[in-house]
Amino acid sequence: MNSLSSPARLLGAAVSAPVFDFWSRQFGSIQAWDRCLARVVARQQESANAVSLTLQPNRRFGGFEPGQHVNLTAEVEGVRVTRSYSFTQPPRADGLLRLTIKQVEGGKLSTALCALRPGAVVELGEAYGEMNLPQGPGRYLFLAAGSGITPLMSLSLALEQNPQAEATLVYWAQQRAELCYAEELRQLAARLPRLRLHFVLTREPLRLAGELARRLDAGLLETLAPDLDALQVYACGPRGFVDQARLLAQGRALRFHGEAFTPPALAPGGGSVRVTLRASGRSLDVPSGVPLLAALEAQGLRPESGCRMGLCNTCACRLVEGVGQNLNNGETISEPGSELRICTSAARSDLTLDL
Ligand code: FES
Repeated sequence: MNSLSSPARLLGAAVSAPVFDFWSRQFGSIQAWDRCLARVVARQQESANAVSLTLQPNRRFGGFEPGQHVNLTAEVEGVRVTRSYSFTQPPRADGLLRLTIKQVEGGKLSTALCALRPGAVVELGEAYGEMNLPQGPGRYLFLAAGSGITPLMSLSLALEQNPQAEATLVYWAQQRAELCYAEELRQLAARLPRLRLHFVLTREPLRLAGELARRLDAGLLETLAPDLDALQVYACGPRGFVDQARLLAQGRALRFHGEAFTPPALAPGGGSVRVTLRASGRSLDVPSGVPLLAALEAQGLRPESGCRMGLCNTCACRLVEGVGQNLNNGETISEPGSELRICTSAARSDLTLDL
C-alpha cells in the first residue's frame, strides 16, 4: 500500500479518516485516508450491452497484473454495492485503468455503472486473481465466452510486452453486437501475428468471413488447437462453459486454468438446515446445497461480497461448527475455525458461522 499522501500525513494528528475523506471530496479530490477512490475520466460504449470506464485511481491503488480482477464499490440508492470486474488492459504508463461493465438485466449496480459519466467517483479494492501470464516463452489457448473476454483481453494485450509468447484467442458471443473490443482485437491480431483470433457467434443469422458458429466441443478444439498437448489453456466465462473447457483440456493440455463468472451449481442434497450467524445473532433456515451467500440474500441479509465466484475472499468467514461444502470442488469443511467463502459454499448440516 502506498504511503499516506502528504496532506493526510500533515493532518494525521489533527483529523480522523472520515473527516479527511469528507473534506477531500468537498474540494473535488479523490485522495482518501485509507481507501482507493477512482474517478471516471472516460466512458466508451463497448458493445450493445457493455460499457468501458477509464478510471484514474488515487495513490492508494496498489497496482495489478494483466488477468486480475478488482472489487468495485459504488453507492446505489443509498446502499453501497460491490461487484468484481476484470482489468481489460495491462498496466498503462499513465496509471489509468480500464474496466468493462456488462449491463445485467435487473442488476442495480451494473445499470448504475453503465450510466456513469466522467467525473463520477467509485471505490476500488485490491487486485486479485491468479490467471497471469509468466514472462518468457509460452504457447496459450485463450477460450472466452461472454464477459469471460475481459481478463483474456488484458492477457491478449499483454502479449505485446512478451515477444516469446504466442496465443490463439477464441471468443464466443451470441450475436455480433455483443462482441466487446472486436475492432481493437482485429487490430491487435493484425500487428501481432503471434495472436490468432477467432470470433464464434452462436445466434447470428449472418456470419462474416472468418466467424464461426460452433459450440465448444472436441472437434472444434481439434480444429483450432491440434497441438493441444503443447498449449496452456486459459478459459473464462459462464460455469458450464468453463467446466466443458476443463473436461476437454484436462489430461491433454500442458496446463488448464479456468475462471467461471457464474456461481456454482447447486449440490445435490435437499431439505433445509439451520444457519446461525454468531456475530449478528441471527438464525435462519436455508436450503441445503445452495450457496450460502445467495441463501442469506434471499432472506434479506446483505453479507459483504465481491466476485461471487470464490476468488476475492471478500465474503470469507470462519466456521464455528457444522459441516459446509465448497461447491467449486466438492470438498467438505468441518474443522472449526476453517475459512469458508459463503459465495461458493453450502451448508451440509446445521451450521454456525462467525458472521
Ligand atoms: S465474494 Fe469473492 S470470494 Fe466470495
